[in-house]
Amino acid sequence: MEPATIYEREYPDDDDDPDFLIPAISEDTPHIPYKPLKRPMNDVVQRSLDYYELMSKRRTVRKFSTEPIPQEVLDNIVKTAGTAPSGAHTEPWTFVVVQDPSTKEAIRGIVEEEEEQNYARRMSRQWVTDLKPFATNHKKPYLSDAPALILVFRQMYSWRADGKKRMHYYNEISVAIAAGFLLAAIQYCGLVALTSTPLNCNARLRDLLSRPTNERLELLLPVGKPHEDTTVPDIKRKNLEEIMINV
Ligand SMILES: Cc1cc2nc3c(=O)[nH]c(=O)nc-3n(C[C@H](O)[C@H](O)[C@H](O)COP(=O)(O)O)c2cc1C
Repeated sequence: MEPATIYEREYPDDDDDPDFLIPAISEDTPHIPYKPLKRPMNDVVQRSLDYYELMSKRRTVRKFSTEPIPQEVLDNIVKTAGTAPSGAHTEPWTFVVVQDPSTKEAIRGIVEEEEEQNYARRMSRQWVTDLKPFATNHKKPYLSDAPALILVFRQMYSWRADGKKRMHYYNEISVAIAAGFLLAAIQYCGLVALTSTPLNCNARLRDLLSRPTNERLELLLPVGKPHEDTTVPDIKRKNLEEIMINV
């Protein structure tokens, strides 16, 4: 006889907790009619093209103007990110928006210190070589120049109102989707961003910004307008045939 397969559960149950099957969101949550935006299909076609054209102009920029961004814009782009879907509607994200010059300087100090070590010894030589076309190094003037830095934190779990630990299912992909919404909103409103992932900075930036230990820094996005001298590498994107398979 074949041995029985033993399945290991993802997110194991806390069987010792007498209330462990109470859902984090009320089981009585009403289901209401969904009111879709009604558009004729020729509009859908046009809008799909328009949106592609807008998004295809997005570029990562590494030199920023210091022109401030109205708070309302920052509120709206973060609200947009917060509309993203998430595993079991756990909304496992915190967006820390830094405009205070001395906090931006402190962030820059930490990132430059860590990046100096990253480039010198933590990253493989192949990695450093692959970054050469982007002309990046450990100096990050954009962290003080950009009018806002948005630090995207991923909540690995949280705490319910009743004090129980709340599991955040699929928190990594949920935060990645929200970050995509944020980048799309930044592009749509006419600003630019630098998608950056400062290696080894999580604990120091989390402490600086007084974020709790259930949160992990995923992205650091300087946001603003590009400096008038900004250049970008002339990279090519894969074409549709390379990225799409129709079955
Ligand atoms: C997950 C991720 C991490 C990245 N990290 C960095 C980074 O630390 N520093 C940087 O200058 N660019 C970073 N980039 C930007 C990429 O280099 C850039 O997206 C890529 O070269 C394509 O250019 P484009 O964004 O202009 O299309 C990152 C992008 C992504 C998606």
